Formats: sequence, C-alpha cells, structure tokens
Amino acid sequence: MLCCDDVPVSQLAERYGTPLYVYSASAIVGRLRAFDHAFRTIPHTVCYSVKANSSLGILRLVSGLGCGFDVVSGGELERVLQVDKRAVRRVVFSGVGKTKEEMRRALKVKILLFNVESESELWALAEVAATLKRTAPIALRVNPDVSAETHPYISTGLRKHKFGIPISEARALYAQASGSRHLKVTGISVHIGSQITEVKPFRAAMERVADLAHVLREDGHQIEYVDAGGGLGIFYENSNVPRFSDYVAAYADAVMRPLRELRVHLILEPGRSIVGPAGALLTSVLYKKKNDGKRFLIVDAAMNDLLRPSLYNAYHEIIPAMLESHPTAAAETVDVVGPVCETGDFLARDRKLPIVNEGDLLAILDAGAYGMSQASNYNTRPRPAEVQVNGKSVKLIRRRESLAEMMEQES
Ligand code: LLP
Repeated sequence: MLCCDDVPVSQLAERYGTPLYVYSASAIVGRLRAFDHAFRTIPHTVCYSVKANSSLGILRLVSGLGCGFDVVSGGELERVLQVDKRAVRRVVFSGVGKTKEEMRRALKVKILLFNVESESELWALAEVAATLKRTAPIALRVNPDVSAETHPYISTGLRKHKFGIPISEARALYAQASGSRHLKVTGISVHIGSQITEVKPFRAAMERVADLAHVLREDGHQIEYVDAGGGLGIFYENSNVPRFSDYVAAYADAVMRPLRELRVHLILEPGRSIVGPAGALLTSVLYKKKNDGKRFLIVDAAMNDLLRPSLYNAYHEIIPAMLESHPTAAAETVDVVGPVCETGDFLARDRKLPIVNEGDLLAILDAGAYGMSQASNYNTRPRPAEVQVNGKSVKLIRRRESLAEMMEQES
C-alpha cells in the first residue's frame, strides 16, 4: 500500500477527492536540512525558490526552518509577506521583467537583494529608489556562458538566452551602478538553468563568478554576497538515485570550492531539489480504452494539473496506489492521458504499468515542484486540492477550487 509518510494515499484520495497533490512535510524538512548541512562550512542563506511550489502551506513550512526566499514577481513577494513578514529580510528578487510597481513594493518592505538582469532595469530601479529616498541593494545577474545538459526550455546560462548580463560586460555596468547614490552594489548572482544533475557546470560557473569577484573588488566594489542560483536536478527516472546527502554534498563542493578564499556570504536558490520528490499527484483511472492496438488509461488529472510531461516531454514515474493487488507479472503498455482536448495532454506515453482497473488510484511521483505552481484552469477545470502530511497528521493546505470561484472575476 502506497503511503505519504504514515498515511495511505488511498485514504487521502477518498477524503479529498482526485486529482490531489500530496506532500510529505518530513521529506521537505529532511531535504532542506541536508542542503543546509552540505554548506555548513561557509556563511550562507538558503533562499527557497518560490516558483517551484508557492503554496502558502509549503512556504510556511520552509520559513519555519529559517529559510529565505527567491521570488520573481510581486505576487510571490506578497505570498512570502503573508507567511512571515520578517522573512522579507531574506528575500532575493530575480527575473528579467520586474515592473516599477514591483520594485517599489520590494524597496518599501526592504528585501535583501535585487538580482538585476539588464542595464535598463538597473536605471529603472535607481529611479524608483530615488523617488522613495532609498538605496537598492543590488547584484548583477551575470551570464557565465556555461552550457548545462538540460531541457532547452530551462537552460539559462548561455549567451543566446534572455537571462542575465554577459559576464564580459558586467565590469563596466558595475562601475556605472556604483555611480548612483540610490544603488548599492553588494553582490554577484548567477543561475545557469534547472534540472541539472551534473555538478561540473555549477563549478565552471562559480569559477567565472569568483574571477569576476576578484576583479570587482580590485575596482573597489564591496562584494559581500554571491548568489549561486538554483538548478540542482532530481532523478525522475528513479533508477540509481544517489543518497540526497551525498548528492548535495558533491554539489556544495562544486559551488563552494571556487569561492573559498573570497569570504563571501553565499546565497542559494534551490526549488526542485527541495520539494520535487516530496510531492505526488494522485489521480483516478476513469476509463480504459483501446484504439487499434494502442491502450490508454484515461485518468482524472490532465496537463492543466501537471504540465511537465506535455511541455517538456518530462518523465514522471507512475505507480498504482494499491501495489499488492497488482502483481508485477501482469503488465501492459499504455498511454496515461487526461480528459483535456489536446493530443498533447498526456502524463506518460508508452509506459509499462501493472494492469489496473477503472476506478483504481495512481500516484504520479516527483510532482512536488512545478506541478501545482504551473497548474491552470484550461478546459475550465478547477485546479487540484493540496494536502500536506506530517507523520500521521494531515493538513489540507488548499481546498479544491470550485466552479463558482473560477468564474468569479468574470462578468
Ligand atoms: N533561481 C532562478 C533565478 C531560477 O530561474 C530558478 C528556476 C530557480 C532559482 C530554481 O531552480 P530549481 O532549483 O528549481 O531548478 N518549470 C520548469 C523549471 C523552470 C525553472 C525556472 N527557474 C520545470 O518544470 O522543469
């Protein structure tokens, strides 16, 4: 029987219905502690990347452990404020298109750092800070031109990408920034992409950042912070999964080694590696269907609930919740698809699964990151409910959206 912590997932599905996101609080806490431990030899702040899973219940859990947050919109900033006003001192604001309104709010509540991604943004920020008579603490997000093996949609560290400032141009822009009374240069930031499972590219990026830090210090800048971004991948295909503590230790070594003698405060922005494996999407089999030779399981979750398979052709392990009633000998190859009217609406293709029946419950694993946060109302489908489990205790952290709520803003 499949459980989330100590609770059978079938009980959760029965009580809250499907599709349903379930999260293990203990898994999230364990992963955060391992992350923190791996970086213990350097002053650091883990700024959990809100975009991975921005549900208030998750943010509250993470904030309770003393984490900061990486936000990319005014909306994400408000979520952090809602959960813990004091956490704002540990907030870094990233993103290529911050509006002046968002800058104003972030300056007023006094976040830790703006990761600035272009010259135009730099001057916009200086202007907003001037009208508020404030000084904005900034890092330039540099693009180190390091390539990382990942899906092209989520790779960010190459010259051709929209993110960051080419590292070769950073020095000149830092010099300009330090000329403004309303900007305070305090760091350098970098993020080379997401779902990167090799540690080498992280090390290569940090080596370039460390070189830049030396040059900037010689130029007279106070480089207090290095923000290494996020991006550590997880093992969706669940074979040979390393122990998280070993894996994160190797990552920490790659990130910290180039920074050793710099004596900076390191900021980390992990998202997926903290919440991804801690969540699953539960879904019920509505119908079984055969078209020619092809077999389909039509389930009640769809691309609007979990977009990753459709958008990135991503793999998510799927297992029946009642494992014991499905001896592995009897398997069939199926496409697991949702009710949405698109051929691209699938959760798995040509997947060998134990034979299941209509009405059975399936768990789509590793769905804690970029699952609910990317969910939509496409096909006017209410988004799933979310449940957080801690040992035996179960908390509904988001109830299922109603049809009336979905139409509320419309006339
Ligand atoms: N920091 C910055 C500046 C980022 O752009 C991101 C992710 C993170 C941190 C967190 O990265 P993580 O540790 O979660 O890899 N929707 C895609 C992932 C998009 C990632 C965007 N940026 C997916 O489902 O795979």
